Amino acid sequence: MNNIRLSVSMNANGTPVYSVAYKNKTIVSPSQLGFSLADDTNFHSGFEVIGSEMSSFDQTWQPIWGEVKNIRNHYKQVIIHLKQKNGNHRLLDIVFRVFEDGVGFRYVFPKQPNLKYFVVTDELTQFNLISDNQTFWIPGDYDSNEYPYTISRISEIDNASMVAKSTAIAVRIAPDTKAVQTPLMMKTPDGVYINIHEAALLNYSAMQLHVENSNYHLTASLVPDAYGNKAYLHAPSHTPWRTIIISDKATDILASKMILNLNEPSKTSNTSWIRPMKFVGVWWEMQTGKGSWNYSDYPDSLGKDGKLIPNGKHSANTTNVKKYIDFAAASHIKGVLVEGWNRGWEDWFGNWKENVFDFVTPYPDYDVKEIVRYAKSKGVSMIMHNETSGSATNYERQLDTAYRFMNRFGFPAVKTGYVGKIIPRGEHHDGQWMVNHYERVAEKALEHHVMIDMHEPMRPTGVQRTYPNWMANEAARGNEYNAFTDEGNMPEHETILPFTRLMGGPMDYTPGIFKLKGYAEYAPERQLHSTLAKQLALYVTLYSPIQMAADLPENYLAKPDAFQFIKDVAVDWDDTKILEAEPGEYITMARKEKGKSNWFLGAITNANGRSTDISLQFLDPGKKYIATIYADAVDADYRIKPEAYQITKKAVTVGSTIHLILANGGGAAVSFIPVK
Ligand code: NOJ
Ligand code: CA
Repeated sequence: MNNIRLSVSMNANGTPVYSVAYKNKTIVSPSQLGFSLADDTNFHSGFEVIGSEMSSFDQTWQPIWGEVKNIRNHYKQVIIHLKQKNGNHRLLDIVFRVFEDGVGFRYVFPKQPNLKYFVVTDELTQFNLISDNQTFWIPGDYDSNEYPYTISRISEIDNASMVAKSTAIAVRIAPDTKAVQTPLMMKTPDGVYINIHEAALLNYSAMQLHVENSNYHLTASLVPDAYGNKAYLHAPSHTPWRTIIISDKATDILASKMILNLNEPSKTSNTSWIRPMKFVGVWWEMQTGKGSWNYSDYPDSLGKDGKLIPNGKHSANTTNVKKYIDFAAASHIKGVLVEGWNRGWEDWFGNWKENVFDFVTPYPDYDVKEIVRYAKSKGVSMIMHNETSGSATNYERQLDTAYRFMNRFGFPAVKTGYVGKIIPRGEHHDGQWMVNHYERVAEKALEHHVMIDMHEPMRPTGVQRTYPNWMANEAARGNEYNAFTDEGNMPEHETILPFTRLMGGPMDYTPGIFKLKGYAEYAPERQLHSTLAKQLALYVTLYSPIQMAADLPENYLAKPDAFQFIKDVAVDWDDTKILEAEPGEYITMARKEKGKSNWFLGAITNANGRSTDISLQFLDPGKKYIATIYADAVDADYRIKPEAYQITKKAVTVGSTIHLILANGGGAAVSFIPVK
């Protein structure tokens, strides 16, 4: 097949070794495979090959929602059957799949007499690179992925100097100063793009990568449990897929469907209740300090008379929620998220208390019945919020009750959250125990026909193919950092995310901030490092089947002409064209709305302005379109004049070209609506 070549062999010690070449150039030099186990530790050498099978596969499938209508799953597969010559004669299979855009492989532990329940103390998989590639990395923290990216050579990777930058998690554990998280995006000195990640992370812990600065060798480093073990398994079973996506075009990396293809098909065919949507939320006003999640300011919640004493700032009150419902209805936005509606927020953060929330008891000023009645009368759906404050066991105990509550009141979706240390045992957010927890939650939600959006989980690995109700995750540094830190997210951040975090699945980034300066009550000088037009472009460049319009209704009502793009933009697509891309620099994409002829384009840049001519060859032939171009104004600049935009309209066809000028830290968004 194609440009990718995989070689597999056994070295002199009986250790399996693989290497990968692209267009006849080595990308991964011979790299070892195997494990250490808790008892009888050596599960990496002394093997012999006892058989192998080759096959090929070519099938096209339709995702329930997604970036494209049809996905081709086309690969050649080889399974290598191994047996240890001595001792317990244990068996290990390794399955390799070679696609047109990369390689995936995983370990399979066949059923056998001498391997039943076993503990993995280390996975020893190597990715021996051969050049000092440019990398886009975040440190190997076991509990948080909410970091800004560092761009450096492999030889320069060192996270020792990094202070805890992910403030939403009260704990930072990254004992290995040379570990980075995946997806790890790289570019070789001769211009080949490489992305290393994993697919189908289930019942295992997340893989991070330990980096050897001197020889560019990377080694799997699994997130441990509270006792330092890496995984508890039972044969027959298998690991997730290790993925290496390779191309000399950056756009191919973003277009790759390899990770989705390595996941199992949907667990259900009953999916009519799974509906991509846009939503607004009682959210940014708390993030920016105008309102509060908590109803009362008393840590123990109660005044002398045993009643909660209101602080007068509680945002999730019936009157305020109705304003958001009215706004959503008037804007044809389907969902309204409300955070801070349930008791417990007085004392939820960093206190290591187990039973802070029960997920069904509203504050006295939040009338659930009335709110859902009102929303229904306006054709709006309410989105539930379950913040667990890291108490995952408490959430598991409450799962049935919480999801029955959603069913009873007709909440079609829930946003969950895992802020803080995972209690009681101190498991890590990215360890096997939590990976299994997130799956149990997705499964429970599936059973109850609830769509799910997880905040602070491990980063995704394409499992949304299997659980199509698992719409999105945060799992990276979202727009919220612009609310609670001055540093926020710098302009290159959103040009890196699609090459890293979003390789595994949709992100709830919460774009669409219109008031770009002076929004934080407690820090009036704070500003977003973005222009307004760029905030619009993110609806196209940061894919998610659920997209928040994150700003306050009043800030949208002040700029109805720009808000029109958010009203119009789709969230589910028949086609996606990655038109231009360079990680850390710029991305331009166009997407076609599901079941319609409308197209939407987003173009974003880093701190440097740029201009580009985009040929509209992607439009439907034979149709005339009105292009509405939401661009940075001539004097726009993310530091000085972030809110300056201009809107122009133009008749275009498939033969047209549009010229876009992006300000420093800017962007452009374009809607193409066919003329009737
Ligand atoms: C962090 C989440 O990312 C944010 O969206 C949410 O508002 C807070 N936790 C509170 O749950
Ligand atoms: Ca977060």
